[in-house]
Amino acid sequence: EKGLYPHYMLKEIDEQPFVIRKIVSKYQDGNGDLIIDPNIRDSVKEADRIYIIACGTSYHAGLVGKQLLEKIAEIPVETHIASEFLYNRPILSTNPLFIFISQSGETADSRGVLVAIKQLGYPSLTITNVPGSTLSREANFTLLTHAGPEIAVASTKAYTAQIAVLAILAFDCARAKGIQHDINPFHELSLAANAMEIMINKKEMMEENVWKYLNASRTCFFIGRSIDYYACLEGALKLKEISYIQAEGFAGGELKHGTIALIEEGTPVIALLTQSPIKGNIRSNVQEVLARGAHVCMISMEGMEEKNDQIVLPAIHEHLTPLVSVIPLQLIAYYAAVYRGCDVDKPRNLAKSVTVE
Ligand code: M6R
Repeated sequence: EKGLYPHYMLKEIDEQPFVIRKIVSKYQDGNGDLIIDPNIRDSVKEADRIYIIACGTSYHAGLVGKQLLEKIAEIPVETHIASEFLYNRPILSTNPLFIFISQSGETADSRGVLVAIKQLGYPSLTITNVPGSTLSREANFTLLTHAGPEIAVASTKAYTAQIAVLAILAFDCARAKGIQHDINPFHELSLAANAMEIMINKKEMMEENVWKYLNASRTCFFIGRSIDYYACLEGALKLKEISYIQAEGFAGGELKHGTIALIEEGTPVIALLTQSPIKGNIRSNVQEVLARGAHVCMISMEGMEEKNDQIVLPAIHEHLTPLVSVIPLQLIAYYAAVYRGCDVDKPRNLAKSVTVE
């Protein structure tokens, strides 16, 4: 039920802080300890490499998941687009674990990989929003994202829920491997939920920015580095999917290797900065595009902001920043689609779950 909301997508964007808090409560017991099936923990611990397989927005969550698992649990991870994996057949490690990320649990491209790796006898874990879905039933293990039904074709709350569950899995495995982290993952996720709420309450600001930057444009670039680059890929997918504006996410450092040729007077560029080590580099990328006439909407995190930045995000743990940086990107896509009179919840040519390969 979308109630008073004009679109499911807006309702689902708004639900995100609640979903993160729900995940926090579902994955901890009365003592504040993590509840994860010990068999899942053992499989991750035993794996010499994890292969994350997914499509679309879930693939983008998988890119963030790679960073989380590598940085927090020190496990090597490769993230693959499901439809590419089957044909490229990368050389696998000796003890791989496959993690399938899928909101619906029905995506045919991902299932194709699951069927193939099961034949090879490799273990699998599905992270999904739908209990009893095909990918959940056919994998060895399941972790649920508890996001509630997602109706809009554009995925929003499923993405942030997937990242939260991947973070919990990473912290759980780190603990099992004896890797010390001085932080409480549930506390950090709760802080992230609060920060998401703050951004959700700034809808007018995003609406104004859409008007200012995207009103007259058929294209838009998103630039970021490291984990921000992954959030940029997701921001660009959201924008193209529902507003039909041609959008691309780029790693800031790649601009000078070709893409900067496309920047001209008035080209909108949305730049993201949530990681202090990349601060100087992304700021200089912004200067490079400004010098070519780009209209830059700068989204930075508190502590890294400068006076004229358009959107400032509350500071949260450095590994969790996509949870909050994606909120303005989702809202920008939403308002751009509304302004253009697009069918926000049911964009043309797309289906909610893609059950053909
Ligand atoms: O149900 P899944 O997570 O497996 O779906 C994967 C993609 O089809 C999906 O994320 C798609 O990219 C969304 N429409 C993006 O908003």
